[in-house]
Amino acid sequence: ALGAEAVSAGYRVEVFDSIGSTNAEAMARARDGEAGPIWFVTTEQTAGRGRRQRPWIAPRGNLAASVLEVMDVAPGVAASLGFAAGLALQAALADLTAQSEIPLAIDYRLKWPNDVLAESQKLAGILLEAEAVADGRLAVVVGIGTNVVAAPSDTPYPATSLKALGLDVTAERLFAALSDHWASYRAIWDHGWGFAEIRRQWLQHAAGLGETVSIRSGASIVEGLFDSIDDTGCLIVRTPEGRQIPIAAGDVYFSAT
Ligand code: BTN
Repeated sequence: ALGAEAVSAGYRVEVFDSIGSTNAEAMARARDGEAGPIWFVTTEQTAGRGRRQRPWIAPRGNLAASVLEVMDVAPGVAASLGFAAGLALQAALADLTAQSEIPLAIDYRLKWPNDVLAESQKLAGILLEAEAVADGRLAVVVGIGTNVVAAPSDTPYPATSLKALGLDVTAERLFAALSDHWASYRAIWDHGWGFAEIRRQWLQHAAGLGETVSIRSGASIVEGLFDSIDDTGCLIVRTPEGRQIPIAAGDVYFSAT
């Protein structure tokens, strides 16, 4: 069963049959002194949170997983863990796809800041939350939601699920692969050169690199070429006038219309 071994790659695992939000649970526990590293995992999330105050409901069978790491880092540094999470999920999905009994070729891409697309449709989202805790350290919660059996139908963007793509895996198997890869990328991240390596690998799997994008944040829209991400994780857009603008937050659209 999900997290049955209770320890995954050196991490403790707490499994919920159903829960409001694994991110909310993780942060509440950090406030109570939980120092991690620990995963909070469920296959049914009833009041999940997405980026930009959007909901993220996981119907039974999907995977909602949040990892809590309490660290001695500045808040800005922690944001780069979202990229490590995207890579870990991408690697887990690639493994499971390669192991599929039915031969499948599914193109998984990372969409800035930290969605995972499959065949250009949203398959997974990542929500990173950070808060200072009692001893002055930073509690970082990386929440990863993956559409295993069902995709929401009411989204403003096209969404898909592993089942719809023909990949027959359970949330349990996906979590086992994800938590393994998380431990590896987390270890890379820990080194002084860590984000440079995460960034290099992330760019290899990025959706829309070199293409025209528009980034919307509230009422503001920036259009240009998706050039790169910088060493803090900002998206770098090159405008038609040749200016390079770093974008810290927003939604990316690939066809600039
Ligand atoms: C997004 O794309 O907007 C991010 C979605 C993040 C959803 C995950 S599911 C596990 C964790 N718990 C939450 O409440 N949210 C994240």
